[in-house]
Amino acid sequence: MKLAVVGGGSTYTPELIDGFARLRDTLPITDLVLVDPAAERLDLVAGLARRIFARQGHPGRIVTTGDLDTGVADADAVLLQLRVGGQAARERDETWPLECGCVGQETTGAGGLAKALRTVPVVLDIAERVRRANPEAWIIDFTNPVGIVTRALLHAGHRAVGLCNVAIGLQRKFAHLLDVTPAEVHLDHVGLNHLTWERAVRVGGPDGTDVLPRLLAEHGEAIAADLRLPRPLLDRLGVVPSYYLRYYYAHDEVVRELGTRPSRAAEVAAMEKQLLEMYGDPALDEKPALLARRGGAYYSEAAVDLAAALLGGGGSPYQVVNTYNNGTLPFLPADAVIETQAAVGAKGAVPLPVAPVDPLYAGLIANVTAYEDLALEAALRGGRDRVFKALLAHPLIGQYEYAEGLTDRLIAHNREHLAWA
Ligand code: G6P
Ligand code: MN
Repeated sequence: MKLAVVGGGSTYTPELIDGFARLRDTLPITDLVLVDPAAERLDLVAGLARRIFARQGHPGRIVTTGDLDTGVADADAVLLQLRVGGQAARERDETWPLECGCVGQETTGAGGLAKALRTVPVVLDIAERVRRANPEAWIIDFTNPVGIVTRALLHAGHRAVGLCNVAIGLQRKFAHLLDVTPAEVHLDHVGLNHLTWERAVRVGGPDGTDVLPRLLAEHGEAIAADLRLPRPLLDRLGVVPSYYLRYYYAHDEVVRELGTRPSRAAEVAAMEKQLLEMYGDPALDEKPALLARRGGAYYSEAAVDLAAALLGGGGSPYQVVNTYNNGTLPFLPADAVIETQAAVGAKGAVPLPVAPVDPLYAGLIANVTAYEDLALEAALRGGRDRVFKALLAHPLIGQYEYAEGLTDRLIAHNREHLAWA
């Protein structure tokens, strides 16, 4: 089995490698290609990757290349984990929206739109080349904003599934609190990527008993503290929102906070510098603890599970993924991309039926879906007016004056990445 990782020079890659090594029975990789244009960084990351495989007795071969077409040739699955413009572009996304009183964030709000505009054309070009190399290859997309990028891939007819670690992180956390294995925990996870709620936590599978009320009663404090949301909110809703909902439920508080401290991108850039120094140490042969301070916990396990299921080798029968709605949420278009529990196998992901969604969540889901639709239009076709409309449609923006100010800033800060600007 051959896998290619586009953006393989990411400092996150050792997390992925560690998962590939530990879970090699689930996903028996023989060849792993790390593809990245940043040669020096790729060398450092690949060196550590090979040492992790060696230490854990993984027989797979790891090769590197800066050439995409060579890298993806014959790959059974291609993982996309790239960041167009690097942390520098992310830092701008997190900063200029604050000037208009709006949240500055990697995937939410105007910063997320900027990221989508930079990323969608690049990812579509990569996907075309993957398809040319092997029309049967699966694309697993970790590249943010995952909802919009997956929608772009599916609309262009690619064999793609979008993936995020939020659900698997909560599944692991709840399993720990309940003292059961993660495989026993089935989440009723509803919404869009980075806009989800856990409405039930079932032990034993999709028909298991819902223990969410007990979890909230016994561990509500810890769960709320983790999400940085007030516990009474969780108790009143009776659901667990993803921590990205904080950007909605506490938007103004977050804006105030962000104005008083360095951006997450700056923090991450400093960590990356340190991580790369560590990766260069020939004595290091495991993922360093510092990596746990990044947001990507368990993303390797999600990737292994999904790749194993898609490539017909195993993996969990139900997984939370990003795929076409196809009537699952009746209030959204069929070709919207939702994040949901799906039956995953060699033919792809098919969403499980979802219980009716309370208007409290359905309204926001529908609103953000409309924004994502307009965002994709703007990413594919460009133009100031399309950017403006996507921003105006976003529930965290909405006002004419904000949308105007943000449009100007978005274009000014991203000109080098926007072919039409
Ligand atoms: C989580 C999200 C990812 C996001 C990451 C950011 O893993 O699911 O989509 O990219 O956090 O983490 P970072 O360490 O880069 O801030
Ligand atoms: Mn994510």
